[in-house]
Amino acid sequence: MDLLCKAAVAAMGILALSGCGDGLSTVSFAGQVKPILDNNCVSCHAVGKPGYEVSGLALDSYAGLMKGTRFGKVVVPGNPQDSVLNMLAEGRADPSISMPHGDQRGLYKEELATLRAWVAQGALDN
Ligand code: HEC
Repeated sequence: MDLLCKAAVAAMGILALSGCGDGLSTVSFAGQVKPILDNNCVSCHAVGKPGYEVSGLALDSYAGLMKGTRFGKVVVPGNPQDSVLNMLAEGRADPSISMPHGDQRGLYKEELATLRAWVAQGALDN
């Protein structure tokens, strides 16, 4: 890890969000991201389910996630701030469309951090 990275981590105190690619904090799609989608999103975002039927977004595979909705992509690799996936999960959009739909709890902080870090690190199929 380079000095700047170390400084950023120290300043923020959030290794998972640093995206500094030191190996230790690399988020795995298969190991960490997919389970979050499976548990919270796939019940609606798969063929035949309401989230997929309305938006065209399937969240049961890496390919589906990267393909996005029928209107466009929901992941901008390297940029969680502009990724619709993160915006909706974090409730940064209109409350009527925050995801998971109709679920007041939303995702846990750790899950949101995992999704952000994964996108920040380039949204890899890893
Ligand atoms: C209870 C069903 C349900 C669940 C669970 C659900 N969704 Fe959705 N989702 C929908 C529906 C219905 C739409 C289309 C209508 C809308 O946008 O409100 C949608 C649309 C979306 C869109 C596209 C919004 C747009 O129009 O740009 C994204 C991105 C999304 N969901 C992500 C997620 C994620 C991530 C999760 C899990 C954390 C999730 N959804 C869980 C029902 C659901």
